[in-house]
Amino acid sequence: MKLIIINGPNLNLLGEREPEIYGSETLEQVNKWIENHELCKNLELEFFQSNSEGELIDFLHSKRKSVDYCILNAGALTHYSYALRDAIIGTQIPTVEVHLSNIYKRENFRKTSVIKNVCIAQFYGEGKQSYINGIKYILEKK
Ligand code: DQA
Repeated sequence: MKLIIINGPNLNLLGEREPEIYGSETLEQVNKWIENHELCKNLELEFFQSNSEGELIDFLHSKRKSVDYCILNAGALTHYSYALRDAIIGTQIPTVEVHLSNIYKRENFRKTSVIKNVCIAQFYGEGKQSYINGIKYILEKK
């Protein structure tokens, strides 16, 4: 099974960006941890990060015929990107929305996810474990 794990804007700064909210590990460390997690041992994973909405959409388009699922932390695009929402529908890649922080216990604008109802599930608030919860959901669903 092939999975893409996508991180959106500002997630490249993990480790230095608001560590009290997002933790002190870098994105590279988080990705390595996911890759080495025992749940992932039979999965083909590909990681992608971009700060650009267009690049995220282009990446989804490019994978639409070759992957089974997507784990997506869209960063702030979660809250307003109808273009990303359309890309999830348009590519028909079953996508799980994930967040490190609990978006429902922060500023009001974070409580809205415009991608939530085009995703197959949403996991948040457990740091890097949120990504694994998404993968676990996919594996249990199969
Ligand atoms: C985030 C939450 C978003 O509101 C924020 O803009 C991010 C990270 C999270 O992982 O908790 O960039 O998606």
